[in-house]
Amino acid sequence: MDEKKVPAHIAIIMDGNGRWAKQRGLPRTAGHKQGAQTIRTIAIACNQRGVKALTVYAFSTENWKRPYDEVDYLCKLPRFFFRRYMDELMENNIQVRFLGEIERFPDDTRNVILTAAEKTKNNTGLILSLAVNYGGRREITLAAQRYAEDVMAQRADLQIDEAAFGTYMMTKDLPDVDLMIRTSGELRLSNFLLWQNAYSEFIFTPVAWPDFNEEELDRAITEYTERERRYGGLK
Ligand code: FPP
Repeated sequence: MDEKKVPAHIAIIMDGNGRWAKQRGLPRTAGHKQGAQTIRTIAIACNQRGVKALTVYAFSTENWKRPYDEVDYLCKLPRFFFRRYMDELMENNIQVRFLGEIERFPDDTRNVILTAAEKTKNNTGLILSLAVNYGGRREITLAAQRYAEDVMAQRADLQIDEAAFGTYMMTKDLPDVDLMIRTSGELRLSNFLLWQNAYSEFIFTPVAWPDFNEEELDRAITEYTERERRYGGLK
């Protein structure tokens, strides 16, 4: 694979956990657990391929509408995930971050999340961002609010360019998304990284997230490298 062409920032909508579980006669939560293991596999693989940032949609602002047991399980998954994989994340020099309004999660979940970010903050490899209680419109709304506050306090100028406004986003120092992958056959953006996906290449695969693997990742990266990105211009 041509190192230079590897996408700097990959974003993934990890869809299909529930269907994957149902097909196997398992509870939906089993799909989420398997899906968490896929995050580990794909993060390590991205790091090995020289990808700088991987951002995954783990819990949307809409997911609170799911049955209590499922929400409760999703809130407990970070503890399982970091207990099992923290050593490997450290060995692989992976930095963990979170996007989203984590205040709404129970104390325990929040502590696990903050501890993981703190422990890995000096790692210089892949930046793995988990989007939790995240919504793209909400992110832009919050950015506008903070920007307005800065203007009112005369900390920011009313004339602002896109790069400057981008610093108000939750992804502030990450590059724009280059490659956006959605698993499990759905062809939607579902309010994910609206600002950051402005010029990304989209790849949709029928494979359910728990079955997504290194081979699928390489297929997506290869397809990405073969596309011509013009950013609205001509070749
Ligand atoms: C979408 O599949 C998936 C989710 C809503 C949750 C994704 C979460 C994980 C993969 C694990 C997160 C782990 C950590 C450590 C934060 P779905 O349930 O909508 O599947 P379906 O469309 O088949 O029902």
